[in-house]
Amino acid sequence: ATPTPTAAQQWTTDANEALSLSLVRAPDDKASLWAREVYEGFHPTFTYPIFGEEEKIYGYKELSIDLKFASGSLVQYLNVRYAEKLPSSSTVDDVEGTISKFIPPGYYTDEQKFLERVEHDALNFKPFGQKIYSYTRAATTLTKGKNVAISQVLSPEDQETVDFEVYHSTWHTPGFREFHRRMQLFVLLYIEGGSYISEAEDTWEFVVLYEKRRRRSSPDVTTYHFVGYSTLYPFYCFPERVRLRISQFLILPPYQQDGHGSALYTAIYQHVLNSPSIAELTVEDPAEAFEDLRDRNDLKMLIANEKFMREGFGPEAVSSNGGKVARTKRGKSRTMRAGAGKMGPPAERAWLEKWRTELKIAGRQFNRLVEMLILKHMD
Ligand code: ACO
Repeated sequence: ATPTPTAAQQWTTDANEALSLSLVRAPDDKASLWAREVYEGFHPTFTYPIFGEEEKIYGYKELSIDLKFASGSLVQYLNVRYAEKLPSSSTVDDVEGTISKFIPPGYYTDEQKFLERVEHDALNFKPFGQKIYSYTRAATTLTKGKNVAISQVLSPEDQETVDFEVYHSTWHTPGFREFHRRMQLFVLLYIEGGSYISEAEDTWEFVVLYEKRRRRSSPDVTTYHFVGYSTLYPFYCFPERVRLRISQFLILPPYQQDGHGSALYTAIYQHVLNSPSIAELTVEDPAEAFEDLRDRNDLKMLIANEKFMREGFGPEAVSSNGGKVARTKRGKSRTMRAGAGKMGPPAERAWLEKWRTELKIAGRQFNRLVEMLILKHMD
């Protein structure tokens, strides 16, 4: 028999379950790609930065916290509901008071007014900054792993492809600072150990990914819907360039597992390659899932580079040492490794360094990638 909960347990709620998030589209934009199950009522992974280490809220029964975002502008609506609340005392959590410390003032509490704003923003919101990357997806791939049937989200007359665009901005991009204040909550809710960045630090850069849609009723009207973003910090790199570091990186749950993280990472990498002032791309304290995403995309990029692969891993690229990996793994004495031809270790190091600087990959990451390619070539 399940033990009867103590009085304290009866009044305690799991904050991650109680808090539910929604990305709200105007009715006219919903028909295109829309499933309530996917875009409304998803939950945070973490709430400890807001509600404390235990991620519990005390003093309520049937507590539900509804935090909605206009899908493009991220204008917010907050509603706290419960069946019962303990008489006010110092131990009862002030839910709205606590959350309001983490979101900018001026959020909506009147749902009707919020929905009017959603409608207004749907027509008026445009991404901030400069477009640096775009890609297109077949609409049918967009529900993979979401546990919803494609027929639930797409009507027969729906568009067959969906565009996604990445925009680059800084604190100086008009309107972006306010947008960032609404967006940054996602860092606390989804990145372990994540915290707000300082607006006083002037050099931050940002890339934001949006889904771009044409309205069903008026296809000439374009609407934008937030998918994810990354914060980037440029460090001085001797003698006259910068090393760009990915600091925060996230894709919202409704869009995860569809390759958007990879696309956003690729957008950042292409931006680095295209910017003469940037020497290399690095990552701050990557979570395992992000490390995985980075490895997969970097490897794909290297394997697609014919010249690099031919010089390093082609038939003539067998060098005199470095067979250690091969021998320990397979017991074979093959010594294939990166490095052109029969050049000795110093020349090989120079060859690797030449490619590393050209491809703007950080040293430790490049070494890991080369190791992985060696292992792959053993098979
Ligand atoms: N269709 C279906 N699946 C796909 C597709 C596709 N078209 N493309 C890729 N996938 C699979 C990949 O194979 C991968 O599978 P795996 O999990 O077995 O490795 C998986 O989807 C993830 O790849 P993406 O879809 O490209 O990545 P996603 O968009 O899910 O983003 C991320 C990954 C960024 C980690 C996301 O889950 C997230 O934001 N998590 C929460 C926040 C976080 O942890 N951020 C990183 C912190 S570290 C930092 O900030 C530096």
